[in-house]
Amino acid sequence: MTTLTIPVFKPAEKLLAELEPAAEQLLNRHLGMAKEWFPHDYIPYALGRDYDKDPWTPDQPRISGVAQIAFEVNLLTEDNLPSYHREIHRMFGAGDGAWLNWVNRWTAEEGRHAIVLRDYLVVTRNIDPYALERGRMNQLQIAYHHDDGGNVLRGLAYVAFQELATRISHRNTGRYSSDPVADRIMTRIASDENLHMIFYRDILSEAIKIDPSAAVHAIADEITDFQMPGAGMVNFTRKAAQIAKSGIYDLRVHHDEVIWPLLNHWGVFELANLDRSAELRREELSRFLGRLDAQASRFEARRAKGADAGAWMPPE
Ligand SMILES: [Fe+2]
Ligand SMILES: [Fe+2]
Repeated sequence: MTTLTIPVFKPAEKLLAELEPAAEQLLNRHLGMAKEWFPHDYIPYALGRDYDKDPWTPDQPRISGVAQIAFEVNLLTEDNLPSYHREIHRMFGAGDGAWLNWVNRWTAEEGRHAIVLRDYLVVTRNIDPYALERGRMNQLQIAYHHDDGGNVLRGLAYVAFQELATRISHRNTGRYSSDPVADRIMTRIASDENLHMIFYRDILSEAIKIDPSAAVHAIADEITDFQMPGAGMVNFTRKAAQIAKSGIYDLRVHHDEVIWPLLNHWGVFELANLDRSAELRREELSRFLGRLDAQASRFEARRAKGADAGAWMPPE
């Protein structure tokens, strides 16, 4: 096992200032591509009934138990927006220009996701509304913190992976639900997550040009440590295992559809101008990805046999 030196990364303010012109360009691109939409347009209000006259009972949901779990996990994850706002403001909210405007715009867009999901679930009675509210209270008190030691590059890598993972998780949850109303909602949210992902993906491409070695360390750190933001949720491991068993989000998806498309886009394994420590870190990352791929294959084989396949979490 090679002992690697801890890389020196630029102070956050300096790197964010260098990236600010690119952030402005990418924010303007985002504003040109983002479509205005309204949560209430997506809710089947005709299905709604008063809860005082007709209380919720467990026979009312029209989606399967696994679909209910996936919606619950996705919504509680979206609910934690106050923490994410605090974190992205801490990581990227420098100055009073493009970065701050991005942080605020992103937060405003993300707010719609919990609104539309909760309205759908409450109107359709597809989830126990008491359990959902207790889950929200719990989730916000657990809060969320990204442990990046103030390294902007780690923050950027995390949010790029996380937005792509969330895009796929929402999209697959909608498909899995077999409810066209839910599918339409999840397709809409997934489009937002995609635009968020490409902002972070492309700003990190710019950062790679500035400091490729530090970026490789940051990307490798985030891949090997990756956890979905909902990981602190009560019973998350059991819920994630059921979500993985259903194929909504499993290790194969994580390896093939989240990690590798971004690594390829950034050209991580083609970068030629790395220092020795980043080269070693990249080799270590390559070995990690090999183990992840093997673990994903074992997971698929166990699932095909109907065995308990476990959750989607990457290897330790
Ligand atoms: Fe979201
Ligand atoms: Fe997002």
